[in-house]
Amino acid sequence: MTERVGQHREIILSGMQPTGALHIGNLEGALRNWVRLQEQYEMYSCIVDWHSLTAEFEDTSGLKDKVFQVAVDFLAAGLDPNKVAIFVQSEVPEHAELHLIFSMLITVPTLSRLPTYLEKKDRLDSYGFLGYPVLQAADICVYNANKVPVGKDQEKHIWLANDLAKRFNALYGPTLVEPEALFTEIPLILGSDARKMSKSYNNDIAIGMTEAETEKKLRTFFTDPKKLRKGDPGNPDGCPIYLLHRIYTPGAAESIASPCRTGELGCVACKSQLTNNLNDALRPIRERRADWLNRPADVWNVLASGAEKAKARTKVVMEKVRDAMKINYRKTT
Ligand code: TRP
Repeated sequence: MTERVGQHREIILSGMQPTGALHIGNLEGALRNWVRLQEQYEMYSCIVDWHSLTAEFEDTSGLKDKVFQVAVDFLAAGLDPNKVAIFVQSEVPEHAELHLIFSMLITVPTLSRLPTYLEKKDRLDSYGFLGYPVLQAADICVYNANKVPVGKDQEKHIWLANDLAKRFNALYGPTLVEPEALFTEIPLILGSDARKMSKSYNNDIAIGMTEAETEKKLRTFFTDPKKLRKGDPGNPDGCPIYLLHRIYTPGAAESIASPCRTGELGCVACKSQLTNNLNDALRPIRERRADWLNRPADVWNVLASGAEKAKARTKVVMEKVRDAMKINYRKTT
């Protein structure tokens, strides 16, 4: 990051919850894009442990390992700690400070109308969970980030961050950058049971699986339920295996979808082709992953120096925030 000082590059803040070992949905939907973005932007990639606590605050014993696994998968995917600050949210307390200030600028009814809140409020109705998007807005604005790479599901949250920055500026004078979403074309990836791929459904292919585990798991994947044996005509549309072929098999429309439709290609052979292509694509990532796993102290050092780089930035922004609000009491000028 230092070698680029002096250039005025836009700033990106990306965030992900520490769910533990990440899967190929996380890789293809987010990480590959972040790896591209690190070349063009000044980038901060945050593992948002406080956001995880909004749902899982009772048993925190697994959190440290989940943070570690996510950091390893970030590095395995190709995030380069010399180009991007990789860090843990709770190690940069300025996120919490701006969250508190933002919480004054938004009403409870506005927050309680957000779909992400409505979906879970029956299970989860804490003050902290209601404020989830306010904390996310603080994550972004405390860097004065210009862009936030997210999927469409996060649209309202980024809009809220933009709105909070606008409200702050209107009240206290121009201080904060009004951030925008950088929507990523996220390929549809379904899990073994044809629901959205998610670690919590246990229907995922983890980045860190061995090649044999990958093969075994792919064998359990649903395919077109009407195609019972080779020879039966199949429908690749919406088939979880075909959706993966579209990512990992060049020319999948001709080489997979067509012979599936005619019945020439059976599900067993189709899955074994995918296994080979997927394992080939993941091999370099898995090699890097194994390498970082061998030296855990280096992973924690990446997070420590990432937090230092992040703090260098958030300290400057929070100083401006305190100045604008005239709560920088001991400052003489
Ligand atoms: N809400 C995001 C998600 O569920 C995670 C997140 C928290 C985030 N803070 C962020 C994403 C800041 C981008 C920027 O995916």
